[in-house]
Parts: sequence; structure tokens; C-alpha cells
Amino acid sequence: MEEVYLDNSATTKVKDKVIETMMKPMKEVYGNPSSLHSMGIEAEKLLKKARRKVAKAIRADAEEIIFTSGGTEANNLAIKGTINTLQRYGNHLITTKIEHSSTLHPLQDLEKEGWEVTFLDVDEKGILDLEQLAEVISEDTILVSIMQVNNEVGSIQPIKEVEKIVQDYQDSGLYLHIDAVQALDKLEINLSNSSIDLLSMSGHKIHGPKGSGALYIADGTRLKSLITGGGQEFGYRAGTENVAGYVGFGEAVKLATTEVEADVEQMQKLKEELAAGIKDGLEGVQINGPEVTAGVPHILNVSFQGVKGEVLVHALEAENIYVSTGSACSSKDSKSHVLAAMGLEQKAMEGAIRFSLSSFTSKEEISYTVEKLKEIVPRLRQITG
Ligand SMILES: Cc1ncc(COP(=O)(O)O)c(C=O)c1O
Repeated sequence: MEEVYLDNSATTKVKDKVIETMMKPMKEVYGNPSSLHSMGIEAEKLLKKARRKVAKAIRADAEEIIFTSGGTEANNLAIKGTINTLQRYGNHLITTKIEHSSTLHPLQDLEKEGWEVTFLDVDEKGILDLEQLAEVISEDTILVSIMQVNNEVGSIQPIKEVEKIVQDYQDSGLYLHIDAVQALDKLEINLSNSSIDLLSMSGHKIHGPKGSGALYIADGTRLKSLITGGGQEFGYRAGTENVAGYVGFGEAVKLATTEVEADVEQMQKLKEELAAGIKDGLEGVQINGPEVTAGVPHILNVSFQGVKGEVLVHALEAENIYVSTGSACSSKDSKSHVLAAMGLEQKAMEGAIRFSLSSFTSKEEISYTVEKLKEIVPRLRQITG
């Protein structure tokens, strides 16, 4: 088989329709959206249209969408922008132990600077401890930052329950931030009636271009900008906008949310086939995270006993199958903080592989992957004894 790409949580292939829409701002309407002449005004119109597409998909207003370079920047802006604005209300921040590094690292840095940070526990399925959240939250808490979907195991956090706990403290200066990077085109996001103040998104995880993303900042929420200069992005992010990137991101969001149901159903079916094929065809395997029928439709994390994850990644690559051991941002570090927080044993962590699907994934590709795993895993086990 030519290529089986099962690393869609790391990044996705850009859709042709997305590339087509990106051509106009690059080839024809290449003006600076801040320029006063017609080329600038036309570019600004394209930008506005893209902003409306993103806003519509999550039921927000266009003025609540701040374009960023991706999920990492959106998470950083949400966290650092909040502490700069709300520090007079308290010094306590809450997150979970299984966040993406773009949330964990800024919060770990803040902890070193003297902020009090609670990293909530998760259970063996990768679901946060709501009771612990209710216990530790206080008048001193100014930020609760939770990922909607975990990028390594696909667990879905109970955001509605989190909202209920957090609501009582929002009047005394607390923002709720959700990292929706892995949720955007897989789960419905409706911010029209929610307590969410901030929500991060990324373009390249949903078949859009790299270097594009957004932070939703609910009307009335005040953040301090991290990048100052011109007044772009309503003063939240200075710098000439990546018009082509944001136009592509807008189109990717539109396509993803209009096709979501069929795509999600197809991915779920294929994920179940992959899990069943692996379990039936091989001994010594363990599915990590939520039940195969729960969780998001595109992520399956499996430990292969007696096999090193990195070795299996390369053995599969030799058969044109692309997977990863965990988060692309920390895949060179063999210990996953997510699997560790879920209580996996060292050996199971070492043999963990993340398969992540997309709407491009086919039944043939899944069958081919299962067949190759049935050949490769016993061979690797034999070599390592
Ligand atoms: C849950 C989550 N948040 C944030 C990010 C960072 O997004 P980006 O790659 O757009 O910076 C990722 C990327 O893997 C992610 O999976």
C-alpha cells in the first residue's frame, strides 16, 4: 500500500478545497488587511469572512474570535493573558495532569514563579476527578484550564460538569478555558449558552494549514495581549495577519462542521475495526484510555507487551504506515505524562502506540495495518526475547 497515514492527531493532510480558497489571498488579494486602499480592504473582507466561519461553527460572534498561529499560542494567550488581568483576584490556577505541553509548560513555569497550581488527577480512562475539582476550587482561583479531548488517548472530559462547578466562582474573578484543539471537528461545540470564557482551536488538526488557529474570547472577558505592536486582532495579537492561513482555517472549520456527522460515524466504525483486529489477532495487547465505543472517534492508544513503541513506529514505517508513540510534541521523550497519570506500568507505557484516524482513512488501510501488525509484533517480540 502506498501510504497509510494514522497520525492525524499530530497533524492532518490539507483538503484540496482548503488549498483552493488559500490561493486567492496569496495570488490576487495579497494586500495588507490594515491598508486603507482597495487591496487592503479586499484582504480585510477575506479575513472577516474567515472569522465568521470559525465563529459560526462554535456558535460565537465573529468579534469573539482572535486568530493565532495555532493551539499552542492560543493556550499561552489564555493562560498568561488571564494571570496578567486577574491577578488582583487571587493566585490559584487549576488544570489536569494530562494537558498538552502548551498548557502544562506555561503553568509549570508559573508554579516556579510562585503561583499556586493544582494539577488534577485523572482515572485509568483519562477522565479528570470532578470531586477533586470541587474540593480545591476557591475564591482564590482565577483560572480553570481543561482540555476537552486528550490528544494521546482520546478521552473526553465532562465539560458540562466542570462548568457547573466553576459557575459559582466566575463572579469573583475566574475564567474557564477549554483547549478544544482535538475536539473541534469531532464533537459539537456550542458556546451560545455556556460558561466557557476562552477556547483554543488549531487549523492543522482539522485539515487546515499549519500556523493557523484561534482563541475564542467571550464578550466581556479581558485578557492582556502577549504580543504588542499594531492593533490587529482587536488589540489581542499584534502583527500582520496570516491571511491565507486564516482563510484556509476558516474553510477547514466550515467543511469539518458541515460534514461532521458522516465523518465521525465512519471514523468510529474504523476505529472499532482496528481495535477488534488488534485484539483478535494478537496476544498481550491492552487498549489504553476510554472504552473503544466511548472517547473520540479518531484516537486509539494501544500497548503491545514486550515491544518498544519507537521500534514499532519504525517497523510500521517500513511498511508505509505512519503512527506515533504519543504526542508529536513530546514523542522523543519515551515516558508519556498522560499514560503515567492514568497509572500505566512502565512496560505498558514503553510499548504504547497512538493510532489516529481522519475522514481520509479507509477500510482497506485499517485491514492492511492489522495484517502488518500481526506480522511485525511477533517478529519484534522474538528478536527482543
Ligand atoms: C490538545 C492539544 N492542544 C494544543 C495543541 C497545540 O496545537 P498547535 O500544534 O496548533 O500549536 C495540540 C497539538 O498537538 C493538542 O493536541
